[in-house]
Amino acid sequence: MKVVTDARELPSACTFVPTMGALHAGHASLFALAKTYGADVVASIFVNPLQFENAEDLARYPRTPEIDFEIAAASGVTHLWLPKQSEIYPEGFRKIAAGPIGDIYEGKSRAGHFDGVLTVVSRLFELVQPKVAIFGEKDFQQLQLIKTIACDIEIITAPTVREADGLAMSSRNIRLTPEGRVAAQVVYRALSQSKTEVELREILATEPAFTLDYADYIDEKTFAHAQSDTSDVRAIVAGWINGVRLIDNMLMGNRA
Ligand code: PAF
Repeated sequence: MKVVTDARELPSACTFVPTMGALHAGHASLFALAKTYGADVVASIFVNPLQFENAEDLARYPRTPEIDFEIAAASGVTHLWLPKQSEIYPEGFRKIAAGPIGDIYEGKSRAGHFDGVLTVVSRLFELVQPKVAIFGEKDFQQLQLIKTIACDIEIITAPTVREADGLAMSSRNIRLTPEGRVAAQVVYRALSQSKTEVELREILATEPAFTLDYADYIDEKTFAHAQSDTSDVRAIVAGWINGVRLIDNMLMGNRA
């Protein structure tokens, strides 16, 4: 694996997996999936300041460079790109507005978050010019918004990777206390056992350590509240345990 700090050293028409580091088995699965699309797999690690609500959240974001290197090298990444902030955000760079879907759910709780995500992803795409890019389904709203800005790039959805008890893997999980880690099981339990939105919220409410942000059944295409005739219903959940934000989602089919 080659470590690159300048995008001009990257191979053309690669398969690209953008990350913010703190890599775990979920990222390894994205890299493995990337490998099936072509020989050159580029992974970037850039903790994007524009997508954090405040300096404290940005500073608290986990950084594990040695582990990142090991996971990337062992999972088929051929080029690990560690861009400098000046390469991503030169003077006068273009900011992208995520629009109405960027202002609801995750976007409502984290003002400007999706503008920051789309701005960085569009810059990363401009610099790498990949053929294919891989994103995890866990960040479902992010994934849907990225699809709206990717013109000539094929966006592939990678399934959420879960711990044995169902908790969706996330870089933020390492900040959970042991008790918080057990309490976090409630999210998967609620998603996998609920048959209605009311049940989803009832199951989440059984865990006192979980502070709810939102739990809804939505139309996965429009993000509107699911109706009885909605065919692609997705349950989405976000909340906090010990101040650590947990988000997850699951396809419910036509259960509205
Ligand atoms: O999902 C992430 O890790 C980030 O939001 C992304 C897509 C790498 C943009 O910074």
